[in-house]
Amino acid sequence: MTNKIKLAILISGNGSNMKSLINDMENPNHPAQPALVISNKIDAQGIKFAKKKNIKTVIVNPNTFEDQSSCEKEIINLIFSSGSSVICLAGFMQILSPEFVNTFKNCILNIHPSILPLFKGLNTHSKALKSGMTVHGATVHLVTDKVDDGEILGQGVVPILKNDNHDSLADRVLKLEHRLYPLVLRRFLNGNTERTLISDL
Ligand code: GRF
Repeated sequence: MTNKIKLAILISGNGSNMKSLINDMENPNHPAQPALVISNKIDAQGIKFAKKKNIKTVIVNPNTFEDQSSCEKEIINLIFSSGSSVICLAGFMQILSPEFVNTFKNCILNIHPSILPLFKGLNTHSKALKSGMTVHGATVHLVTDKVDDGEILGQGVVPILKNDNHDSLADRVLKLEHRLYPLVLRRFLNGNTERTLISDL
């Protein structure tokens, strides 16, 4: 397929969600292609995978910039030069300014490991375990200038089992994320406005 939508993926770590998106985009009928992977961490493991797939990769280390604004300007320039019109945050541990978000309004997606609006921020698995809930999950949402906010595009749920600990629960949620994010991205790019719901209950 020609004229595919170009996609930029921003990561900070393992990039396992990035991998699931890239693998899905290898399908010829996928509406998008990965044009750029940016990491804000020099040692992000996900970069190796993207390189192997011959995708352009760039490390943008915030410590080498005067301030957040100049760092974000660099990221914006890289995204524009890559021709990307959609951005997927995949474990990108950097809060984006309102200016950044407005530059790509309604075109930035994020995956968060909880059933939003529950458990925003960090340590979501510990929070879920502590809460006494019997279900947990993940959310893909549009990014706004508020953290872990924005329109929910899709959610997945998993059970919290009686003998779960942080790692067993985190592992179950991450596996769910790898199914959820590609599914939501495809539907979003195809203009399908229905919320995607998946369940491992
Ligand atoms: C995932 O749990 C994602 O929901 C959160 O950060 C984690 C990133 O994992 N935003 P990975 O780098 O995709 O493996």
